[in-house]
Amino acid sequence: MRKVLLIEAMGSAEDLLDAGRELGVEVVVATHREIYESYSPALKQKIAATVFTDFSDQDGALKDLAAYARAEGIDAVVGCWEFLTPLAARLSAELGLPGNDPERAAGCRNKRVMAGLFEEHGVPAPRTLLAADLESAISALAASGLEYPVVVKPAEQAGSWGVSVVDGPDEFPAAFAGAQGWPFESPHGFPLDTTVLIQEYVGGVEYSVESVAYQGRVIPLTVVQKFTTDGVFRAETGQTVPAALSDEDTRTLYDTTIAAVRALGITDGVAHTELKLLPGGHAKIIEVGARLPGDRVPELIRLASGVNEARAFIQVALGITPELTPTKDEAAAIRFFVPPRAGRFKSIDGLVRSPQVHRIAVYPNPHDEVRGPGDNDGRVGYVMLRARTPEKVNKAADAAVANLTVELE
Ligand SMILES: Nc1ncnc2c1ncn2[C@@H]1O[C@H](COP(=O)(O)OP(=O)(O)OP(=O)(O)O)[C@@H](O)[C@H]1O
Ligand SMILES: [Mg+2]
Repeated sequence: MRKVLLIEAMGSAEDLLDAGRELGVEVVVATHREIYESYSPALKQKIAATVFTDFSDQDGALKDLAAYARAEGIDAVVGCWEFLTPLAARLSAELGLPGNDPERAAGCRNKRVMAGLFEEHGVPAPRTLLAADLESAISALAASGLEYPVVVKPAEQAGSWGVSVVDGPDEFPAAFAGAQGWPFESPHGFPLDTTVLIQEYVGGVEYSVESVAYQGRVIPLTVVQKFTTDGVFRAETGQTVPAALSDEDTRTLYDTTIAAVRALGITDGVAHTELKLLPGGHAKIIEVGARLPGDRVPELIRLASGVNEARAFIQVALGITPELTPTKDEAAAIRFFVPPRAGRFKSIDGLVRSPQVHRIAVYPNPHDEVRGPGDNDGRVGYVMLRARTPEKVNKAADAAVANLTVELE
């Protein structure tokens, strides 16, 4: 049985574990012992084998895992947790297995390196200034001619931690401090680059493109449309696959994505690309991760097109031609349930169960403590839907949740 080493079962790990089982390969999860203990029972149940290391020392982890892989005859390395995708690229290169360019892999995670690679390769992306401290940030901004609003963000965080849109100079110092407020990765605890990026604010509408790269060829699978709340905290309320877009706009997003993914040296793996479509038929990249999408998007892609991106990822990592031919042309959507405030959960009321509803999930039990809205951890469940077209699935999704309320005690 062929063996795949999965670098940390966080993010869309369950999709990869399921795909490994379906492909008849053994998936070994590399993690920390105490993090393994904190995995959910459902996740643990899918894991047949583990190897423990210490990711807070990346050079040490690389040595450990390379020795383990050689001793155990590992056939493929798959990066799952975005923070560790550079390590996955280094490890696959060390073992002579398919993977991304280790020299550029830091650019799939560190937005400072990413911005440099985009500039070097002529990839359309927001104009970006870099600063190590507030004083140099203020003078760089003044000298640049960039106008407010600007986006201030940490080089190396995720989950929108420390990212703010700044409308004027009064807000700038707090935004800068916010961007430096998360200097360690969680949960493994390795230090992060504290450089702050000050970026041109890009208007337009945001999408993501999910792609697979195989032997240097980048194959976009679909455009995903993201729905968010308004206001200061942009929590994601849902996703639709594929986005309701013209063929021309889809092509623009695909072409821009291919340029970005190539610039980052993603040659054998997957890419989650966030980008904005602007009037006039062009797009700008916000960021790229060398990982599967979150928010159950792999399942939406499967429902809409029949393509299993997690399976394709494992195939690429094993050096096998990935199965990427769509077997259907439909649409799927997810909408999340978020309570109006923190409190004790009672029930979900008012959900409309139409024939388009594929699955409903509610996470808490009655009386459980739940968080308020604000970030993605506030979610208490979701409805997943499917229909023949994106327009139909969006209409069904709107109708399903139009009168939905999350009741608290
Ligand atoms: N230059 C920009 N112009 C306009 N909007 C931006 C810009 N940079 C970031 N954003 C908005 O902020 C969001 C989060 O930024 P970014 O993706 O860079 O950070 P992140 O921490 O990786 O976030 P996440 O993990 O939530 O995607 C983006 O999805 C986008 O909506
Ligand atoms: Mg992002």
